Amino acid sequence: MYSCAVILAAGEGKRMKSTTPKVLHKACGKEMINHVIDTLRESGIDDVDIIIGNGAEQVKKNTMSRNVSYSLQEKQLGTGHAVKCAKDFLQGKKGIVAIFTGDAPLITPDTVKRLIAFHKEKNYKGTILTSIVENPYGYGRVIREENGEVRKIVEHKDCSIEELKLNEINAGMYCFDIDALLGSLNNLSNNNAQEEYYLTDVIEILKAKGEKLGAIPIPFEETMGVNSRVQLAEVEQIMRRRINHKHMDNGVTILDPNNTYIETDVLIGNDTIIYPGNVIEGKTIIKENCVLYPNCRIKDTTIECGVTIQESVILESHIGDNTTVGPFAYIRPESVIGKSVRVGDFVEIKKSTIGDHTKVSHLTYIGDAEVGENCNFGCGTVVVNYDGKKKYKTIVGDNVFIGCNTNLVSPVKVNDNSYIAAGSTITEEVPKDALAIARAKQVNKEGWVTKKALKK
Ligand code: UD1
Ligand code: CA
Repeated sequence: MYSCAVILAAGEGKRMKSTTPKVLHKACGKEMINHVIDTLRESGIDDVDIIIGNGAEQVKKNTMSRNVSYSLQEKQLGTGHAVKCAKDFLQGKKGIVAIFTGDAPLITPDTVKRLIAFHKEKNYKGTILTSIVENPYGYGRVIREENGEVRKIVEHKDCSIEELKLNEINAGMYCFDIDALLGSLNNLSNNNAQEEYYLTDVIEILKAKGEKLGAIPIPFEETMGVNSRVQLAEVEQIMRRRINHKHMDNGVTILDPNNTYIETDVLIGNDTIIYPGNVIEGKTIIKENCVLYPNCRIKDTTIECGVTIQESVILESHIGDNTTVGPFAYIRPESVIGKSVRVGDFVEIKKSTIGDHTKVSHLTYIGDAEVGENCNFGCGTVVVNYDGKKKYKTIVGDNVFIGCNTNLVSPVKVNDNSYIAAGSTITEEVPKDALAIARAKQVNKEGWVTKKALKK
């Protein structure tokens, strides 16, 4: 049977106190609404329409890549009115429509699949997801018949004293027969406490027509919506726990899952060990047998097998097998570091390639450079890549030994197997197999201190 989905995302989200539309706030690195879209797609629903209103252009821009359609709700007159705005999307379609909200990103593909399968199997016209909670304050209450069938949903503000005592709440997630839903939307009225057109009233309308309706209770966790920054943090914590559990199930050791921050799309190989305080972002891939000691930030980077990293920041780069990084290294975008390389303490590398087995052990800056294999950078080497106007390129061949406190003034080339004396400022090409010395010769003035009467 054909199925499609509508996501409600036109509301303002006042309590977020943000210039960003609520559904675009991120949980574990991905916008809440994109979590919902991806979950629906994973459940096998391809056709997804989003009801936009507040921040419509921003929401469109940030969901465009997912190939969804949009319906505009100019004025937010209620959830029922919002679905009505998707009429053009729904009209003429035969099958079922799932309705979700863009601010409840913890719903899982398994639950969506279960909702749709249950709805089809029972041949219901409408099925809702519910949750049994201790404190139902603020939610719509589910009123059931004696035989368990759903009779209606009453919003908190419209509840009688008896209804307020019920603790099965409406999760705000549904599945409807498209024709039955479209046939009911016109009968909605806003004669209620909030003067809104409630989607929840569709249940009572279908019931009055003699249609059958169902409800599935699910864990409250999956229904949690975000209305404030505090709730965003609560949702993010649950999502983070799920992500960390997935990696641990895949064979990754995470010493303290409560203090490890791995974004949604990150991939990690088995037998990698992650210490607390690591922040792993974007499209990062970390392969097998790596060790991330505490407090690294790694973004959009591929890290090959057996790499060890301590307290470092690595952005948009590639790190080869068995390389060690840090402590306190900063590897900036577009850097490609080879195999078994050592990038030591207080080393910054920017937009450079470093060949296999090269050592850059301490206090060094390498920018816009191509460095070969088996080189050794002495402590305090600086690639002088910028003259105040333009950036230039430095090329270092294989097996080069660079003495401490060397400046390589770009553009410059240092050829294979050469040595540079400590303290040199290299401005001209160093030939193959040569020793370059580019510093003033030492002069000792014997007895100078006595002569000047400076002796203490
Ligand atoms: C809704 C349900 C309530 C349920 C609760 C679960 C109704 C009438 N009530 O209440 O039974 O327990 O969700 O969280 O549906 N939206 C629009 N356009 C509008 C109004 C809302 O797009 O005109 C969107 C909002 O952006 C939001 C979603 O619909 O994503 C829900 O709206 P909200 O006002 O938060 O409904 P609740 O009062 O929470
Ligand atoms: Ca809500």
